[in-house]
Amino acid sequence: MKVLVVGGGGREHAVIRKLKESKHVDAIVCAPGNGGISADAECVNIKATDVEGMVNYAVNNGIDFVCVTPDDPLALGMVDALEAKGIPAFGPDAKAARIEASKVFAKGLMKKYGIPTASYEVFDDPEKALAYIKEKNSYPAVVKADGLALGKGVLIARDEAEAAAALKELMVDKQFGNAGNEVVVEEFLEGPEVSVLAFTDGKVVRPMVSSMDHKRADDNDEGLNTGGMGTIAPSPFYTQEIADRCMQEIFLPTIKAMNEEGCPFRGCLYFGLMLTKDGPKVIEYNSRFGDPETQVVLPLLDGDLFEIMKACENGTLADVPIAWKKEAAACVIEASGGYPEHYVKGYEIHGLNEDGQAEGVTVYHSGTKKENGKYCTNGGRVLGITALGRDLQEALQKSYKAVETIGFENMHYRHDIGRKALGK
Ligand code: AMP
Ligand code: GLY
Repeated sequence: MKVLVVGGGGREHAVIRKLKESKHVDAIVCAPGNGGISADAECVNIKATDVEGMVNYAVNNGIDFVCVTPDDPLALGMVDALEAKGIPAFGPDAKAARIEASKVFAKGLMKKYGIPTASYEVFDDPEKALAYIKEKNSYPAVVKADGLALGKGVLIARDEAEAAAALKELMVDKQFGNAGNEVVVEEFLEGPEVSVLAFTDGKVVRPMVSSMDHKRADDNDEGLNTGGMGTIAPSPFYTQEIADRCMQEIFLPTIKAMNEEGCPFRGCLYFGLMLTKDGPKVIEYNSRFGDPETQVVLPLLDGDLFEIMKACENGTLADVPIAWKKEAAACVIEASGGYPEHYVKGYEIHGLNEDGQAEGVTVYHSGTKKENGKYCTNGGRVLGITALGRDLQEALQKSYKAVETIGFENMHYRHDIGRKALGK
């Protein structure tokens, strides 16, 4: 089997490392890939959002199976376009990808099918949205752009002035273009946040081990929201009792709801959950693997990722063995100083071997390139230093020990990944 993985970040690197273990996979191509991925797969320079270019490449290069990993090509219909050419792909079609690409769609689905989530209203007029927030007079207020906004479309306003600024940014200044034509204004939820990724073929849903992201840039959850500064798995907050409840109240009802709406979901469905005092509630759905959740979840998979992906695509997921290692995983992201705002690229990275790896850990490359045999920084999030351990403490110790020896000028990372999960 020759497999094409679409994307070029740490998540894609984790998918590729796991696919390499499959006995069915002979060759892996990644588009566009990155410096570190090039040690594990052939990288071809096609943008992840170039649907036509990607389909043509797959057709002309004997690709047997495609894994469409990022959100935007899914929303653009890359899976639909591949299937039209007879190439099977892992990931939802454009209609099903709306569960992430339109928050208005996702919230409407949850309301219609009684899936627990924050109460909300939808607005296409910033003045009406602000009047509603003023009337509610309950802060923080949560304002979300309807469409995809590079993970930056959720604004949490502590008072009326911040709410007005958030609405202006999304709806008037159109910071994220048409993504801000409509907004969802919703209730602020409190509790530990947990990510549960699940494989589904539209019939059965098989949750993966739970994980916990750390979204703010700085220690103690301070600083700006980022794509994710580190993850641990499994989350100790996600007990068996909560997992059973999520299955009955959230996971199965979501799969059923998508079927009833005529858009069965196949691929990886990501449930972003808040474990509130009134029970688990959905904060967001993503139509894909999380980044950097995948970097801690897939290393714990005891199973053949290719077989699982193929079964999601052809509707046989009930028959595939999937087990999880009884270990813990931790991933610490090394980012460029200044991320998620302005940062400089092109610094040489020290501490990596010629395959971009290091002793005792797995290094997932997010934003790197390879020049004259050397790895250099090439993005905001640069590396995900990942380790497994018998327990979370051991996994964290191994990751942080390696973080001390791998780095670059102006590197920034969080020192408290996993601290809350350890109860500290
Ligand atoms: P998203 O971009 O949808 O992943 O949201 C970013 C982050 O905003 C989430 O991971 C939560 O931490 C936070 N968030 C989103 N919605 C809510 C909510 N209703 N209450 C509290 N926090 C929220
Ligand atoms: N880590 C959050 C996400 O992938 O959306």
